[in-house]
Amino acid sequence: MIEALEKLHEEAARRLERCASEPELEQIRIDYLGRKGGKLTALMRGLRELPADERPRAGQELNRRRAELEDLLDARLKGLRENAATLADGGPRLDVTLPGNRPERGRVHPLTRVTDEIIDVFTGMGFEIARGPDVEDDYHNFEALNIPRDHPARDMQDTFFVSEDHVLRTHTSPVQIRVMEQRRPPLQIIAPGAVYRHDDDATHSPVFHQVEGFMVDHGITFGDLKGVLTHFLEQIFQDEVRVRFRPSFFPFTEPSAEVDIGCILCRADEDSGGCRVCRGSGWLEILGSGMIDPNVFDFVGYDTETFSGFAFGMGVERIAMLKYGMDDIRMFFQNDVRFLRQFPP
Ligand code: PHE
Repeated sequence: MIEALEKLHEEAARRLERCASEPELEQIRIDYLGRKGGKLTALMRGLRELPADERPRAGQELNRRRAELEDLLDARLKGLRENAATLADGGPRLDVTLPGNRPERGRVHPLTRVTDEIIDVFTGMGFEIARGPDVEDDYHNFEALNIPRDHPARDMQDTFFVSEDHVLRTHTSPVQIRVMEQRRPPLQIIAPGAVYRHDDDATHSPVFHQVEGFMVDHGITFGDLKGVLTHFLEQIFQDEVRVRFRPSFFPFTEPSAEVDIGCILCRADEDSGGCRVCRGSGWLEILGSGMIDPNVFDFVGYDTETFSGFAFGMGVERIAMLKYGMDDIRMFFQNDVRFLRQFPP
């Protein structure tokens, strides 16, 4: 008897839980407590057949269960009516004082950020953006840039070869060739993008990013190169950065210059000792540049008597590392959110 009661109660409670309307609820009431067919009522009637000494306990239990079921039915009815009222009232109320779910704000990757800043400064001076393929042919990556077959830059240690005459571009300079093949001066172009070299340590990554730039027209001089790059560096590194041009060599520029800025970490000069980053020199190498070599113009069919131009190339990671005081290039590519979160959204 007690067991049967237990089962009935569980069954009724389950039905109540699923019940979604008042008529359904009424049916449940009838099925269990109804005067005629009610299952609990039937058990009540069965009391008479029990031995006299079991009757009082079973009766007590039956009454308890009956009251419990009545309470459940009433509570459910109340709930259903409240729901209906809220819905009629225009839906559940919104408590605007509750703390909300704060969505995580994404951040621009520091490399994207620095690339955008670089692009901004040059577009401000009238430069356009061009792009070229990451898988480049030997001709555009080397040959037309006046890098002959036996040049050390083609060494297996630096270049990723895709096939006999295709490589992952080792610099963005091939974009110079591609643009000049297609167009005539005047040209003022920057070409941002990924480049690839077989190199991997705290300051070298096998994939890194460069921004190439060049300008070709009648009468472009080294003075133009100096003016454009000095303005650029002052914009990127702010507060009166010192700039120096140092003679250098690139096969595709003549004359060539490497451009250094005064160390922005120790702000020292050669005499006062410097720091680890500038290796005591007080200067940081920032980019390569030069006047476009006449041999390069020959490759793209520009008359070297009519046109002259300058070109430059810089590493985005290097500039970002200096700006943010980082000493390991690998942090850019690990996607550690603790690192990325340090940059403002
Ligand atoms: N391509 C050179 C490099 O990757 C940089 C450079 C570009 C130098 C243009 C001069 C002119 O190191």
